[in-house]
Amino acid sequence: MRAPPRFRGRRFLLRGALPMAAVLEIRGLVKRFRRDGGWLDVLEDVSLTVGRREFVALLGPSGCGKSTLCNIVAGLIPADAGALRLEGTPIDTVARGRVAYMQQKDLLLPWRTVIDNAILGMEIQGVARAPARARAREMLRRFGLEGFERAYPALLSGGMRQRVALVRTLLCDRHLLVLDEPFGALDAMTRRAMQGYLLRLREEFGRTVLFVTHDVEEAVLLADRIYVLSARPGRVRAEVAIDLPRPRQPTGDAVVSTKARLLDVLEAELAEARA
Ligand SMILES: Nc1ncnc2c1ncn2[C@@H]1O[C@H](COP(=O)(O)OP(=O)(O)OP(=O)(O)O)[C@@H](O)[C@H]1O
Ligand SMILES: [Mg+2]
Repeated sequence: MRAPPRFRGRRFLLRGALPMAAVLEIRGLVKRFRRDGGWLDVLEDVSLTVGRREFVALLGPSGCGKSTLCNIVAGLIPADAGALRLEGTPIDTVARGRVAYMQQKDLLLPWRTVIDNAILGMEIQGVARAPARARAREMLRRFGLEGFERAYPALLSGGMRQRVALVRTLLCDRHLLVLDEPFGALDAMTRRAMQGYLLRLREEFGRTVLFVTHDVEEAVLLADRIYVLSARPGRVRAEVAIDLPRPRQPTGDAVVSTKARLLDVLEAELAEARA
């Protein structure tokens, strides 16, 4: 059995090398919003990297700025300070569309069927409808949505809608996938199945993923590395390399001990925020 990973950040030291060539590089990111005539500091000096084919999880308390960070990476909103590079070139709001982004809200178009929602990203990229639909059909089948291709989003459960949004994102041919709590609305069984599917996708297609989750176990089961953010304003509190073979079992010794240590970091963080 391998030793559980060690930690880096303010409190811990990480063993092992830095990631290979970075797909995403963020240095000193700062973001604040105007609020009630003052300013709300949301992200404060956040630095992180995502290497090629790496699966990086972002874990942090509610409201600490995870979705804000995703919005900035996807070029939807500008940063106030800091340097962001995607494949070595700066990210700005002008260069939108370089990232396949699944937002926390599923944002399906109500007037489009499931399959036509699924092909939206491909259509924007200029893929013709027929081949796009063929690819989408296969992907929808793998996500348990066979038979719902012609349904409209209003008829679907929350979990089904999330899966359609995930399929749409996965079908976008981009260097980086940013998934903001993609499994948040799924029941435990479907969640496990989706996690397994996402892992296979990573192995089969070598996608690079930045993944937001509240769920410590999910982060440990899926990620190559985890960044733990502090309560707002979000700062990187710890960086954890999960150097364990896959598939990982939730009850495995190393998974359980890593989870416990991450929960300690999060609890210390929340206690500090309350103090
Ligand atoms: N456009 C905006 N204008 C003003 N405040 C905003 C805006 N967007 C986000 N915020 C505030 O910034 C903070 C961080 O929000 P964000 O959605 O990034 O958090 P989060 O970490 O994704 O939370 P959750 O885990 O609940 O999804 C919150 O207090 C939110 O109210
Ligand atoms: Mg969020």
